[in-house]
Amino acid sequence: MPTRLKLRFIKKADAAGLKRIITLYRAQGWWDRSDTPRKLARLIKGSQCFLLAERDGRLIGMGRAISDGVSDAYIQDVAVLKEERGSGAGSALIKALVKHLKASGIKWIGLIAQDNSHPFYARLGFSPLEQARPMLSKGSHV
Ligand SMILES: CC(C)(COP(=O)(O)OP(=O)(O)OC[C@H]1O[C@@H](n2cnc3c(N)ncnc32)[C@H](O)[C@@H]1OP(=O)(O)O)[C@@H](O)C(=O)NCCC(=O)NCCS
Repeated sequence: MPTRLKLRFIKKADAAGLKRIITLYRAQGWWDRSDTPRKLARLIKGSQCFLLAERDGRLIGMGRAISDGVSDAYIQDVAVLKEERGSGAGSALIKALVKHLKASGIKWIGLIAQDNSHPFYARLGFSPLEQARPMLSKGSHV
């Protein structure tokens, strides 16, 4: 029987919580060997919002937004554990992030759709920025 998804915004996490979130980052290959739990704690604190998705008390997904807190925001680091995909968690995360940002008065909400995930975002009301292209500073790592 499918269990209820719980979404929770956090501003900080204890050591065990940080460890669980790092597992999600690692699963996506978004965690570097040199990254530390302390870095994650700062990243959570510095984000406009950081959202967790849990099922049966187990962390299964996350997403966050970085922003000036006034007009613009970028959604980042949206991921759901492989075995939990296709059950609506990813959509629920995006809807909750967008709702939260709009409630804060933020009107420009962008993101980079990695790994051909654009159809997923298109279904959630996002469209490509025509004549615009994401760019990275030399030496940045993805
Ligand atoms: C993208 C992601 C977050 C979606 O999470 P999810 O929990 O599977 O999302 P949902 O269950 O809400 O999926 C909604 C729909 O989008 C579809 N979908 C999900 N990812 C998709 C993708 N990459 N391309 C096309 N369609 C996709 C699902 O098949 C589903 O369709 P359905 O309802 O017809 O079955 C998840 O696949 C993931 O973690 N991917 C790896 C990380 C990533 O790519 N993050 C986003 C880019 S930064």
